[in-house]
Amino acid sequence: MAVTATHGAAPGKDWVIVTRQIKREYDMGGEIVRALRGVDVAIRRNEYVAIMGPSGSGKSTLMNLIGCLDTPNEGEYWLNGMLVSDMSDDELARVRNKEIGFVFQTFNLLPRASALQNVELPLVYAGVSADERRKRATEALERVQLGQRIHHRPNELSGGQRQRVAIARALVNRPSILLADEPTGNLDSTTSEEIMRVFEELAQQGQTVVMVTHEPDIAAHARRVVVLRDGVLASDESREQFIARVGLTHASH
Ligand SMILES: Nc1ncnc2c1ncn2[C@@H]1O[C@H](COP(=O)(O)OP(=O)(O)O)[C@@H](O)[C@H]1O
Ligand SMILES: [Mg+2]
Repeated sequence: MAVTATHGAAPGKDWVIVTRQIKREYDMGGEIVRALRGVDVAIRRNEYVAIMGPSGSGKSTLMNLIGCLDTPNEGEYWLNGMLVSDMSDDELARVRNKEIGFVFQTFNLLPRASALQNVELPLVYAGVSADERRKRATEALERVQLGQRIHHRPNELSGGQRQRVAIARALVNRPSILLADEPTGNLDSTTSEEIMRVFEELAQQGQTVVMVTHEPDIAAHARRVVVLRDGVLASDESREQFIARVGLTHASH
């Protein structure tokens, strides 16, 4: 049975994300893959939510829709009160640049550029002046405790530090949502905890965070855990409910 995780939300300023029966199918040469089969989820401003589920359950498809990289075949998606499911690619790109900060499993940093230059990049595209870029990129790096490493290149940083540069880059445009797809997928467990501490701190500062993961231990760091299974929502729980149900023994919260 599919779960509705909308809590009676109306699209608007308190609810950053509202989806209504969104569906996404892929046509694989005549064979239809139904990646999302009608998902209702709403996320409030300042929430810290994990979207969890096994491989193939539709997590990345949902994250691409939420992040305005893709649009649903059916259903509505409202982001900050704007109906984005019907937008053209140009409109979508504009909304994406303004509202979404992405963090990926593979960091996606430019190897020959310093931490500072990597974090400045979104501001270059946004047409921000060089002085302002440097100021805002430095602040973003300080927020992730990398103020002492701004001139290091990725290969001069640890995996956790690289991911923190990527988080700073995602934050530098002051997005409504920090959206992370398997952010600890390439990190060992100690470094994963380091990244989870950064997310926790950002959430405490009021940043809306949506994290996609297949790992229950990682999901248990969020304040709310939504589980996807076969393209539908299977549960929507608080951290405490989730931890109690799946029986995590070493959750750190
Ligand atoms: N671009 C695509 N083309 C065809 N099928 C896809 C595409 N992206 C995802 N799928 C399929 O949709 C389903 C959900 O995939 P995905 O959202 O990547 O799951 P997850 O991130 O949870 O592992 C899978 O069956 C996958 O094979
Ligand atoms: Mg995925």
